[in-house]
Amino acid sequence: MKLFMDTAAIEDIRTAARWGVLDGVTTNPTLFAKVGGSYDDVLREICGLTPGPVSAEVVAADVEGMLDEGRHFAALAPNIVVKVPMSEEGLEAIARLRAEGIRTNCTLVFSANQGLLAAKAGASLLSPFVGRLDDINEDGMAVVRELVAIVDGYGLDAEVLAASIRSPRHVTQAALAGAHIATVPLAVLRQMVHHPLTDSGIAAFRRDWEAAQAPR
Ligand code: G3P
Repeated sequence: MKLFMDTAAIEDIRTAARWGVLDGVTTNPTLFAKVGGSYDDVLREICGLTPGPVSAEVVAADVEGMLDEGRHFAALAPNIVVKVPMSEEGLEAIARLRAEGIRTNCTLVFSANQGLLAAKAGASLLSPFVGRLDDINEDGMAVVRELVAIVDGYGLDAEVLAASIRSPRHVTQAALAGAHIATVPLAVLRQMVHHPLTDSGIAAFRRDWEAAQAPR
């Protein structure tokens, strides 16, 4: 399973790149608002940190507006993927961007049917939001599982990107559900690195090594 960073924070993305685990990046207006500045500049910088897909999200509600924003983002760097929300207008924008050779990530997917429609319209990435479904007492991972079965079963030309990942357990569950990609914030990536027994084991080995150096 590929791991994307779900952030627009350059330093967080650099950290994942240094760890050798960065396969791509997803941003959205909320994540961009946390860093500020120029969205274009932030996107260009992120695209320089990874050759993997970097999602840039449109905010227009109408098809022509989505197309304008999508074309603009796609011209910023070759690895930009235009993030388009699931809607009637979004499906049309996805289909038209696909016809122009621009890759899209259909976002705000909350059901397997929505993901199926996005794949048929031509989205290359399908983003079910796991955490937000869990928040309303639904089973977010079930949508990932269903969508993966549909995409893989029919050999659709799309990848399921588990989004709204809130915990390391979500990452394991997404991998077991067959998600092609999970996008995670740095905090979750850090939680994945650490285990109390690993951390105490490192400390014990260091302590024992130092004790062995002392004169007997
Ligand atoms: O990429 C967007 C998605 O991951 C949002 O996550 O935590 O705001 O539901 P969250």
